Amino acid sequence: MGIKEKAKELAGIIEKQEEISIVTHCDADGIAGAAIAKKALDEIGIKNDVKIVKYLSKKILQSLNKFTWLIDLGNGELSNINGNVIVTDHHYSKEQYEKALNPFYYGIDGELEISAAGLSYLIASNFATMDGSLAIIGAIGDLQDIKFGKLVGINREILKNSRIEIKEDIRIYGREKPLYKMLAYSSNPIIPGIFERTKNAIGFLKRIGINYNKSWKECSKKEKKKILSEIIKILIKKGFSYGYITRIFGEVYEMDGKDVREYATILNSIAKYGHGEEAIKMCIEEKFAADVLLERHRKKICSYIEFAKRKLEEYRGIYYFHGGNYILDTVVGTVAGMLLRQEEIPSPMIAFAENKEGIKVSARAPYILVEKGLNLSMAIKNAAKELGGSGGGHRAAAGAVIPKGMEERFLQLFDAEIRNQLSL
Ligand code: C5P
Repeated sequence: MGIKEKAKELAGIIEKQEEISIVTHCDADGIAGAAIAKKALDEIGIKNDVKIVKYLSKKILQSLNKFTWLIDLGNGELSNINGNVIVTDHHYSKEQYEKALNPFYYGIDGELEISAAGLSYLIASNFATMDGSLAIIGAIGDLQDIKFGKLVGINREILKNSRIEIKEDIRIYGREKPLYKMLAYSSNPIIPGIFERTKNAIGFLKRIGINYNKSWKECSKKEKKKILSEIIKILIKKGFSYGYITRIFGEVYEMDGKDVREYATILNSIAKYGHGEEAIKMCIEEKFAADVLLERHRKKICSYIEFAKRKLEEYRGIYYFHGGNYILDTVVGTVAGMLLRQEEIPSPMIAFAENKEGIKVSARAPYILVEKGLNLSMAIKNAAKELGGSGGGHRAAAGAVIPKGMEERFLQLFDAEIRNQLSL
């Protein structure tokens, strides 16, 4: 049986329910996935409620007393799930459970080819009328287009079935903003010397003879070529790999004239600050206006990055910082990822932050290490487990929760794990 047949089978089980509880993860993919599920269940008249969580704890698992649809969560716990639970999670797992739509089980890479929102869509589109637009917003929120500079695998099929337009363009976000802002705020890629330095961005554009207040979309072909070649020069000088540099140009996706990354950022910036229900409503109503929120989110992240920079320490080549109760646990990973790229750190980065359950840990690693065999998800899962915590995630981005006071021990265990993985 292929993944689509399995999705159909699970859709059949869902259609027989009278009531379903949707439990989802508080990021763009989880939110888009839950909106797809909710919209579809509403359409066929199945009573439902939505719960948005930071991660799937044992406590949450034990408290599931209704038929539940887990979205963007559950693959790390498949052996502990039984009965009335359907799982649509794209995180790596070798396990299979009869009511899970685990892409890895079907030879599909859940980190690149389909997101949790995409899996929800594969099920929901069997019994409800919908296109794949929300599923693509989820995949973009999960950065599934980064590795190849475009969406691949089932994501591509879903894309064809959506209202999203494909354009070939520079892949830096903010093509309608003044150029100096677009370049200074670019986090993928971070342009060394320009990132977060608007004055330097203005200086750079003046030097190459381009009006810095113009937007990318307003530039002529010649001007675009000039900007691209000058950015590429900087990246080459700084030693970035060919693969990394060429990703700067590729496919960008737009819905109703807006960059799809903007929708994903809006969902993240609402849901990660505790307002996931509003984000789901936005998806269902397709009203994504949140300029004020986005600006607040950007400012917050900037101040978190400054804080993290001051706290940055090193343990046997692993960089880490402790956000204490200053940096919000849900975005500490975002901060770690940005710092890693901004400072061009060639090793994994660990970030800690306090939360109600203990200490939230986030790990991020440069792709070059992932290509050498690093798997942060396994490393963080094993280290956290040893301390009575739990964790998981992806090869290049993973998270965990550990008991308070165990940070140093965690670093030791994590270090041993990655040395083992990379045979150091
Ligand atoms: O929170 P953060 O952005 O660092 O999460 C990175 C990845 O790790 C996500 O895919 C998330 O689902 C996963 N994670 C996890 N268990 C946790 C925290 C995060 O599996 N306790």
